[in-house]
Amino acid sequence: MEKTSRIEGFYKLPMAERLKIVKTFADLTDEEAMALAGLGGADPSISDKMVENAVGSFHMPLGIAVNFRINDKDYLIPMAIEEPSVIAAASNSAKMARVKGGFWTSSTPPIMIGQVQLTGIKDPSRAKHVILERKHEILELANKQDPMLITLGGGAKDLEVRIIDTQKGPNVVVHLLVDVKDAMGANAVNTMAEAVAPLVEEIAGGRVYLRILSNLATHRLARARAVWEKEALGGEDVVDGVVEAYLFAEADPYRCATHNKGIMNGIDAVIIATGNDWRAIEAGAHSYAARSGSYKPLTIFEKTPDGDLAGTIELPMAVGLIGGATKVHPTARASIKLLGVKGAQELGEVAAAVGLAQNLAALRALATVGIQKGHMSLHAKNIVNSVGCPPELVDEVVRIIVAEKKVRMDRAKEVIEELKRKKT
Ligand code: MEV
Repeated sequence: MEKTSRIEGFYKLPMAERLKIVKTFADLTDEEAMALAGLGGADPSISDKMVENAVGSFHMPLGIAVNFRINDKDYLIPMAIEEPSVIAAASNSAKMARVKGGFWTSSTPPIMIGQVQLTGIKDPSRAKHVILERKHEILELANKQDPMLITLGGGAKDLEVRIIDTQKGPNVVVHLLVDVKDAMGANAVNTMAEAVAPLVEEIAGGRVYLRILSNLATHRLARARAVWEKEALGGEDVVDGVVEAYLFAEADPYRCATHNKGIMNGIDAVIIATGNDWRAIEAGAHSYAARSGSYKPLTIFEKTPDGDLAGTIELPMAVGLIGGATKVHPTARASIKLLGVKGAQELGEVAAAVGLAQNLAALRALATVGIQKGHMSLHAKNIVNSVGCPPELVDEVVRIIVAEKKVRMDRAKEVIEELKRKKT
């Protein structure tokens, strides 16, 4: 039977029940399930293997977004995030997208850019040409650095040379284009960039300074799209509201920063859960958003001829499944198994779909009831629990103080007492 991520009332279940469902969905071992739960994964020696001067580890909530259907396959999505409402919003957005089949994705091959900066060149155009003439020699040298990657079909594939203007005159910048396969690729690319630098210097003259990958991974893009039926969203007015919200972000960088932040709420949470480098993803996303010279949304929303809402997203996605925390950290390993992705490209596409879902949820809320309503119930739950409410009364107390718009400790205490009196 095909596995389904459409799980009614998942949020209402106790944590242990949710974990059981997730364990069954992905056929996790007891150890893997424990790692998702944060138990057994807390071996302090892992931190010591990962960073210097380790004294412990920092825990974040890990939740599961349900309802995701991507390219006709159901996914349960692990999300590590400290902010309330994000996982619920993604799940709700994915539920609404299912009406029209869910998300569809694509991506480019995993090509990363390694930059070599040449300075002090008087004749940059000639330098560019002589470097390109000896492209094969440079690529060959780069590929000697990583025989394993070559066996897997990866390696340095091509070279671009750019001339850029700096305050101290032109720089000739060599881009090594490296297929990093299922790795994030930073180590492979940096090693290659460092290895070819002396040869590039010898060929073109001048002096090499920097040799490092670029996080603006324009050759490594992930895309996702979905259509939300107007009825599922709450009517054509909501479709118009979301399009207006998108156009606001398109026209104004102040709004656009928040629009893209909402997208990254979803993407970062998946990136962190899978042990990937979320700073690299953030840097790539925002620089890609600004690639035209002005800062733009990573998503686009349009009204379809039927009056439904079509959403798309495209952004750089330098994620890996091998190396670094993705392999060392038990929770990251279990998260990757839960996703059931076959390769890094699939992981990137899933993350893009989550970003799109997250954005739709935020825009829909913002264009209708506002964002605070959703936030309030969870905030209220925290307040109610913090004043020692008996578990069987929590939901009712939350409902009452949210309806009264009095999400405060003193009111929560009063309502608890009132309900206790009524029940005795
Ligand atoms: C909050 O973390 C994210 C939002 O501000 C995103 C947005 O405004 O689009 C709700």
